[in-house]
Order: sequence, then C-alpha cells, then structure tokens
Amino acid sequence: MSSNHGDRSFSSARHGLSTGLFKSLFMGLCVGLLLANGSHAQSTADALNQRATAAMCANCHGTDGRVVQGSAIPALAGMPRDYMLLQLKEFKEGTRPATVMHQITKGLTDAQVQAIANYYASTPR
Ligand code: HEC
Repeated sequence: MSSNHGDRSFSSARHGLSTGLFKSLFMGLCVGLLLANGSHAQSTADALNQRATAAMCANCHGTDGRVVQGSAIPALAGMPRDYMLLQLKEFKEGTRPATVMHQITKGLTDAQVQAIANYYASTPR
C-alpha cells in the first residue's frame, strides 16, 4: 500500500506517527488519571468540600485547627467529634456564652456542622 507513495507520504507518515504517539500518550495519561480517580472521585469531592467548610474556622482557630502555643483561642484539631457537636449546638442555641462563636454557628447548617466536626476529629493535633 505505501511502497510507491514516495517522500511525501513518508514525511506525513512521520508527522502522523509523532502526533499519534503524542495523542496516545495523552489519552493514556487521561485514562490513567480517570482510572486512578474514578472510583474515588466522589469521596475526593466530599473530602474537599469538607475541608473547605472546615477552613471557615482557620482565621481564628488556625490552619487545620492548629493554633500557636499559648493562643487564647482553642485548637480544633483532634477535638472529639461529640464534644465539638455539643459546643457548636450550645453556641448556636445561646446556652454557652460566647463572644463570636454564637454568631458563627448561627450561619451553619446541620450538615456543615457535621462535616466540620468530622473533619477536625480526624485531623491530628
Ligand atoms: C472570628 C474568630 C473565630 C472563628 C472564625 C471561629 N471561631 Fe471558634 N472560637 C472563637 C473564640 C473567640 C472562641 C471562644 C468562645 C467565644 O468567645 O466565642 C471559640 C471557641 C470555639 C469552640 C469551643 C472550644 C472549646 O474548647 O470548648 C469551638 C468548638 C469552636 N470555637 C469551633 C469553631 C468552628 C467549628 C469554627 C468554624 C465554623 C469556628 N470556631 C470559627 C473564635 C472563632
């Protein structure tokens, strides 16, 4: 088939080869990423969402809930889930006195509170 096509087809075949090689590398990469991520895509999205929600607290409670030694603001990292849920509930209901936490917790949905408590409980101190 290609024996009598001469130089032109040779150079276009070479061009085709390198493009094809690039394409298959690229496709391979995409498939690889898909395979690597596919089964975990949902849990990755959930984890990112959870982390972004918990980041609302970072301004005061530190990145990932870790404060500098001697800080007046309590660390959240490693705080037991049930303890945090109870504190946030009491702040929200106003039964635990607060300067700012009552306002912050009023803006959170139950789902956000759960996500935040789960996040910090599973974050090492
Ligand atoms: C504007 C700063 C600020 C932000 C933002 C903030 N906090 Fe607080 N947090 C405080 C302060 C100050 C206290 C001490 C109670 C008070 O005065 O409100 C506190 C106390 C707490 C406590 C009680 C800790 C203990 O040892 O009992 C918890 C739990 C808590 N915050 C969780 C959170 C969570 C979760 C978020 C994010 C949704 C958050 N905080 C965002 C400032 C903040």
